[in-house]
Amino acid sequence: MDLFTNHSLTPHHTFGLEVRTAFFVEIKTEEELRQALSQCTPPALLLGGGSNILFTRDWPGTVVHMQLKGREVISEKEGTVLIAAGAGENWHDLVLWTLDQNLGGIENLSLIPGSAGAAPIQNIGAYGVELTDVFDHLEAMDLQTGEIHTFDREACRFGYRDSIFKNELKGRYAIIRVFLRLQKDPVVNTGYGAIREVLVQKGIDQPTIRDVSEAVIGIRRSKLPDPAVLGNAGSFFKNPEVEAGQLKMLLTEFPNIVHYPLPGGRAKIPAGWLIEQAGWKGKRVGNTGCHAQQALVLVNYGGATGDEVWAHAQTVARSVKEKFGVELTAEVNIL
Ligand code: FAD
Ligand code: EPU
Repeated sequence: MDLFTNHSLTPHHTFGLEVRTAFFVEIKTEEELRQALSQCTPPALLLGGGSNILFTRDWPGTVVHMQLKGREVISEKEGTVLIAAGAGENWHDLVLWTLDQNLGGIENLSLIPGSAGAAPIQNIGAYGVELTDVFDHLEAMDLQTGEIHTFDREACRFGYRDSIFKNELKGRYAIIRVFLRLQKDPVVNTGYGAIREVLVQKGIDQPTIRDVSEAVIGIRRSKLPDPAVLGNAGSFFKNPEVEAGQLKMLLTEFPNIVHYPLPGGRAKIPAGWLIEQAGWKGKRVGNTGCHAQQALVLVNYGGATGDEVWAHAQTVARSVKEKFGVELTAEVNIL
């Protein structure tokens, strides 16, 4: 087990902030994790790729870098294949590995940064697919007792960018392995308009899962900033959901409001639209701001502090609330 003191976290998260941790430990096996958790200086922070975190301070305890590797086919059943991935596997590499075997199900989730172990935490989603659609179960270590528990889909209580691990069980478990059920004869999901447009442009009428993956990669590269170039953590806020009554009022005042219908007359409104309409798109404030191609992505132009980004996020949320009466909540974990 490799242990470092007064260690820089700058290369270990995607906002590119100058932050440090008192202790940093690399974990490659279950036993190392058990040992580290029982001996480390608290508070412990489990870290994957650091792509959904905003550090507003140096970490005073131990950062536990989840590097448990391994991906394998476990079993086959009725046209499906059960695969397992260690928490420290890179998510996109896992997607590419499934494409190589023509296993369908996670191609729409191509190029999402981060680790397989963090994917269930917020039930990652993109382009019409969420992790829950292919999720079978996971294994997680109880941080207090070191025991391994299994959680099936129901036990994870997945929702939009949500799971039990962000709520009742927040900070209680380290996810060590994730099991997904994929399709041997994949049926592609091209329901998302932007994917269809790309496929039409390319003249592909019978897309494979690789075609879908490549379309998604192209779309993502065209609007999302690359953290290696411009620090960010993807969508900073969740897309808010409003009740039928509030939607009606909003439509009266803002007839062009972009919204996606949900059951019961409710609707989801893209936070990026609200932020752009509130005047923040492409606007730089100090070393931070809302990205010019995608207003929902807050960026570090270089030299920003976590406090600066967080203060700006709160200013943006306040101005959206004032203009539209809609509350934005952070998707990113603020530490
Ligand atoms: P981290 O940021 O390291 O951790 C996130 C949280 O999970 C923290 O609270 C951490 O303590 C906890 N955690 C990490 N690993 C474990 C573990 N093994 N066990 C228990 N807890 C753990 N997300 C989407 O859903 N859809 C997108 O399309 C998307 N696009 C993005 C685009 C960009 C450019 C960026 C930068 C981010 C994007 N994200 C997206 C957000 C992010 O990639 C996902 O949330 C991802 O799952 C985070 O993985 P990570 O390993 O980086 O987690
Ligand atoms: N929009 C604007 N201005 C903007 C950005 C968006 O008006 O600056 C409007 C447009 O009408 C656009 C709509 O918002 O059509 C939706 O935008 P986009 O397709 O970029 O998706 P999003 O709702 O902003 C969500 C996820 C992304 C995910 C994409 C694709 C959330 C919070 N974000 O973004 O996830 O990749 O859909 O499925 O749900 C993430 O979670 O970090 C993330 C990047």
